[in-house]
Amino acid sequence: MTRPVKPADGIVWITGASSGIGAALARRLARKGWTVAVSARGAGALEDLAKEHPGKIIPAPLDITDASAVAACVERLEAEHGPIACAVLNAGIYIPVKAEAPSYEDYARTFAVNLNGTAACVSALTGRMAERRKGQIAIVSSATGFGGMPTASAYGATKAALINMAECLAIELHRYGVHIQVVTPGFVETPAQDDNEFPKPFMVSAQTAARRIASGLKSRRFEITFPRRFTLVLKAIYALPRSWHIALVRRQTGWNKPPED
Ligand SMILES: NC(=O)c1ccc[n+]([C@@H]2O[C@H](COP(=O)([O-])OP(=O)(O)OC[C@H]3O[C@@H](n4cnc5c(N)ncnc54)[C@H](OP(=O)(O)O)[C@@H]3O)[C@@H](O)[C@H]2O)c1
Repeated sequence: MTRPVKPADGIVWITGASSGIGAALARRLARKGWTVAVSARGAGALEDLAKEHPGKIIPAPLDITDASAVAACVERLEAEHGPIACAVLNAGIYIPVKAEAPSYEDYARTFAVNLNGTAACVSALTGRMAERRKGQIAIVSSATGFGGMPTASAYGATKAALINMAECLAIELHRYGVHIQVVTPGFVETPAQDDNEFPKPFMVSAQTAARRIASGLKSRRFEITFPRRFTLVLKAIYALPRSWHIALVRRQTGWNKPPED
C-alpha cells in the first residue's frame, strides 16, 4: 500500500522551481515544515528563493536535459540532506508550434526538456525509492495532455506522454510502496503563459496552483487536477468520439475559420 510521505521521511525535491508554480510550491512546502531542494537552470533565482527560507530551501541548480547531471544532483542531495521522500517533477517549457510552419527545433527542444528531462529525473529516483520501499513522485503534466489543442503538437504531445508515463509508473511501483501522482492543471498565471495568445478561461494564480498541489500531495489520489470546473469539462469533451471532439475543439478555439492571408 502506498501512502503520502511526511517531512520526517526526508526532503522534497522540486524541479522548475526558479519561477511560477515550482517557486510558489517551494515557498508553501517550506512554510509547512518541509526541507525543499529546488532545481532549475537559473541559479540566481534559486539563491533568492533560498534566502526567503534560510536552511529550509536548498538551491540545486540543474539543467534536466543533462541526464548525468540529474543523476549527480540526486546523489549529492541525498548524501548531503538525506533521502528525497517526495519529488515534484515540474520543470517544463511551452513553445507554441504553428502546424503550417513548424520548426523541428521547437519539437526537439520541447521533447528534450518536458519528456526526456522528466525521464532523466524519474530514472535517478525510482530505484532509490523502490529500494527504500517508500517515496512519492508527482509528475507535472497539463490539461493540454488530455487531447489535441491548436499550436500544442509539441507541448501537448509531451504532456500526454507524461500522463501515460505516470500511469505506467503508478501501476509498477505500487508494490514497492512508491506513491506516483500526476498533476494536470488548467491555465495558471506564470511566465510560461506569456507566449500563449489564447483566451485562458478560469486561470488561477501560481499560489492557488501551489495550494492545490500541496493539498493533493497529502492525498492517495493519483491525479491532482484543477481548476476542476475547467479540467472536468475538458475531460467530458475529450470523452466524446475523437472526430466529434476534434471538430468541437476546432470550433471553440476558432480554428474552423479560413486562415488569414
Ligand atoms: N502555466 C500554466 O498555465 C501551466 C498549465 C499546465 C501545466 N503547466 C506546467 O507547469 C510546469 C511549471 O510551469 P510554470 O507555468 O510554472 O512556468 P515557468 O514559470 O516558466 O516555470 C518553468 C520552470 O522550469 C524550469 N526549466 C525550464 N527548462 C529547464 C531545464 N532544461 N532544466 C531545469 N529546469 C528548467 C524554469 O527555470 P529555468 O528557466 O531557470 O531553467 C522554470 O523554473 C511546467 O511543466 C508547465 O508545463 C503550466
